[in-house]
Amino acid sequence: MSDTVSVEFLRRRGQAALADHLSALGSEDRRRLEAELATVDFDLLERLIESTRLPAPPAPERISPPAVVVKGAHPDVDARARALGEALIERGGVAAVMVAGGQGSRLGHPGPKGTFPGTAIRRKPLFRVFAEKLAVASRRRGRPIPRCIMTSEENHRDTVTFFEAHRYFGLDPSSVHFFTQGMLPAVTPDGALVLKDRASLFRSPDGHGGTLRALRRSGLLDTLASNGVEHLSYFQVDNPLVDVIDPVFLGHHLLARSEFSSKSVSKAGPDEKVGVFAVADDLLTVIEYSDLPARLREAVNPDGTLVFSAGSIAIHAIALDFVSRITDEGLDLPFHLARKKLAVTTPDGASASVDGIKFETFVFDALVHAATPLVMEVVREHEFAPIKNATGVDSAESSSALQSALFASWLDAAGCRVPRNASGAPLYPIEISPLFADSADALRRRLSAPLRIDGPTYLGDAE
Ligand code: UTP
Repeated sequence: MSDTVSVEFLRRRGQAALADHLSALGSEDRRRLEAELATVDFDLLERLIESTRLPAPPAPERISPPAVVVKGAHPDVDARARALGEALIERGGVAAVMVAGGQGSRLGHPGPKGTFPGTAIRRKPLFRVFAEKLAVASRRRGRPIPRCIMTSEENHRDTVTFFEAHRYFGLDPSSVHFFTQGMLPAVTPDGALVLKDRASLFRSPDGHGGTLRALRRSGLLDTLASNGVEHLSYFQVDNPLVDVIDPVFLGHHLLARSEFSSKSVSKAGPDEKVGVFAVADDLLTVIEYSDLPARLREAVNPDGTLVFSAGSIAIHAIALDFVSRITDEGLDLPFHLARKKLAVTTPDGASASVDGIKFETFVFDALVHAATPLVMEVVREHEFAPIKNATGVDSAESSSALQSALFASWLDAAGCRVPRNASGAPLYPIEISPLFADSADALRRRLSAPLRIDGPTYLGDAE
């Protein structure tokens, strides 16, 4: 970072257009832009611009499938894991970390993604869904489980205002910690910085990999440690089916003495566009869909299953000590490039859409630094219904259908008859508030007699 960013400095750094713009600004705008430029790490930026030629992914012969623990495959081991996980949660050793700093550009929802109405009937905002889940998890253990919510500079204010307007959804505000991730300037394909408006740079959040550094920089890591937190339960704001505090997963994480554990689901097919867990050069890693050679993507075992089938669903258990250690060591996650259209302001004040490059780090790239990392496969239908797009695959509509299907299976297990169409999908949307029941077992215990389902069905506590 540089203390003073002058016109000459920008010229030396190859930012001639920005230098011309800065020199033409009135004094107040100029001071504003200079102050923002002073926060830019130009050495890092130059390295990033250079790295638009990313190192090649590992050669196919250096990639092999990882060992995967399958949840439910060994009930006795799961029971041991559950007991360990429960003990950890009950002694206050777990905090939930929800990452909600992304821009949600594919969804196109105005406002933070967590404010998106994500449930099948009541259209509850995603933030509320997770608040209800955490309220139940906390109530069950007789203590508030700390929840940490990562925002970005762009959506921090709106996020906090939303929580305040909804009185923290009944959560104890002192157990909710917001922390804000870093931002990085975007550039054009030839490396020029661009403007958001006359006196500010176009910057975007530094990716969910920014979580680790932001936890440290915000002081939250120290606060959590001094409150006895040992492990983080990490998830994304856009998957309403996440089991936010899963004792079995946390217990397996402990049994394996893992510093970084991840849930996976079996890929729907070779062309499903998710990253897969793999071992590359002896290190567990996630290989992005586009980086896995087609030959490996399509490789099958003798029983017809995919060799690289462990798809990442962005749910992790992370040891607090691990985050401390790697951030102490000056964490250096690789930057991934996203080529996107950027809505910028030209130096003469006009709006324009230009080709641009954003830089992001991914949290799972920290896996290679972790001791004895673990992958645990879970049932996709139980835990994964992402909302990424406005329509089609991974949209609110597809997520609502998946949520209804899961709740229908809980009702089946509780002895209710759920009307279904020819393909087996429930005929009516179904929504069960976590406050009413947060699992098939909890629903069975809650219902004294089978329910009659003959229309859209919402089961929730009185609101
Ligand atoms: P995605 O990678 O799906 O990005 O984020 P997004 O921002 O939600 O949506 P697009 O790509 O712009 O359409 C997955 C999760 O990671 C969080 C998001 O908020 C979401 O929960 N995330 C992503 C961050 O917290 N910070 C980031 O910089 C990027």
